[in-house]
Amino acid sequence: MTKVAASILSADFANLHKDCTRLLEAGADVMHFDVMDGHFVPNISYGAPVLTCLHAALPDVFYDVHLMISDPARYAADFAKAGADLITFHLEAVPDTVEEVIAAIRATGCQVGISIRPGTPVEAVFPYLGVVDLILVMSVEPGFGGQKFLPTTPTRIAAIRAERTRLGCNTLIEVDGGINTVTGPQCIEAGVDWLVAGNSLFRAEDPAAVVRVLHSK
Ligand code: DX5
Ligand code: ZN
Repeated sequence: MTKVAASILSADFANLHKDCTRLLEAGADVMHFDVMDGHFVPNISYGAPVLTCLHAALPDVFYDVHLMISDPARYAADFAKAGADLITFHLEAVPDTVEEVIAAIRATGCQVGISIRPGTPVEAVFPYLGVVDLILVMSVEPGFGGQKFLPTTPTRIAAIRAERTRLGCNTLIEVDGGINTVTGPQCIEAGVDWLVAGNSLFRAEDPAAVVRVLHSK
């Protein structure tokens, strides 16, 4: 079954615990924690201290940390200590030291993910299928919530899914950006495993109805 990762970036930060609890009750499986450094992406979000507090308030949740930062290896241990279960970094941030970053995250005990921006050829992640736990396909330019889904995304997901099948490995495929009840099913059809949803979930009157559409067999 597909999993739904609720992107905390769309929460009301003054009511973070309450907003996350509401989405967990609506059926969200995972909390997606977007970290932006104002350097790799032109925006700044929040860091490990916020995760520490959220993890203390909701300790049983799986925390899917998406690092949109220039030096992910440097901060991996901080996020692991704060409660991350999986740490994803961007291939474009560290093109020459991918193996080292994977090793640095593995050393913390967390699962490892690699993300690619919409303009990066999908073939760039093929060498890491079977090596990392998850590939995160961005369906918008990283940096902001509430953007429009890029229609090239399902084809990109399908290409990674086909390569995974060819290799016979079980690296998960996640999609992030502009996911809603229309675009989510297109990604499910293409073979995605996890769907990140921010605005479409946090702003929904009935988030459980959105989760139901994003959950599939
Ligand atoms: C964008 C972030 C996303 C974003 C998704 O850079 O990585 O996780 O919060 O938000 P929506 O679903 O609103 O596009
Ligand atoms: Zn994200």
